[in-house]
Amino acid sequence: MVQINPSILSADFARLADEAEAVRGADWLHVDVMDSHFVPNLTLGTPVVEALSKATSTPLDCHLMIDEPDRWAPQYVEAGAGSVTFHAEAAAAPVRLAREIKALGARASMALKPATPVEQYEDLLPELDMLLIMTVEPGFGGQAFLDIMLPKIRRARRLMDKHGLQMWLQVDGGVSASTIEQCAEAGADVFVAGSSVYGTDDPAAAVRALREQAEEAARRAADAPPAPSA
Ligand code: DX5
Ligand code: ZN
Repeated sequence: MVQINPSILSADFARLADEAEAVRGADWLHVDVMDSHFVPNLTLGTPVVEALSKATSTPLDCHLMIDEPDRWAPQYVEAGAGSVTFHAEAAAAPVRLAREIKALGARASMALKPATPVEQYEDLLPELDMLLIMTVEPGFGGQAFLDIMLPKIRRARRLMDKHGLQMWLQVDGGVSASTIEQCAEAGADVFVAGSSVYGTDDPAAAVRALREQAEEAARRAADAPPAPSA
């Protein structure tokens, strides 16, 4: 099932409750947490997540671009996140951390930066509810989509299928009307979109349009004959 998660990184931080309301109909709100260490940018922490979770009924998808997620991620569940994504490159004990996030009642997800191969995490996939494949270098909104990540998205979906996993595959970075179809055809089903939603006059309409495009592309891919495995 296609899900569209607008990223509030491109929203007006002084009006977050209104900005959440502006994308009514979105599946999740994507909340980018940056610590100025793991990435060269600083955004927000648990107090803002807690306030936002009380201000909206849309569940929060927290993407932690931070060092030491083993130490900090559980607090984001307690602050109200429904899904918590930590980076593979930063986690000391990803299996233990995923189990802890789930035990606290949230969905557990792991993100891979563009240069991190998915193959080395094949054995961990059953521990996760979602895998996030970054389609830009994490840190900033509004960057150009890296289409060299498309084969990695395909390989990730193939690994999930090989193990019979129903888990979600999220893409984040440069997702827009011109790139979402390629992502859906490659096997992604959860789409983060910042500037292509909040950069428009009607964010809710942008969410609907992206959803339609992704659903149509996913249908096309399902009807197509299986691609030769390369
Ligand atoms: C980037 C963040 C993204 C960002 C995406 O590091 O993880 O979630 O908000 O922004 P767009 O959709 O503008 O590339
Ligand atoms: Zn993100």
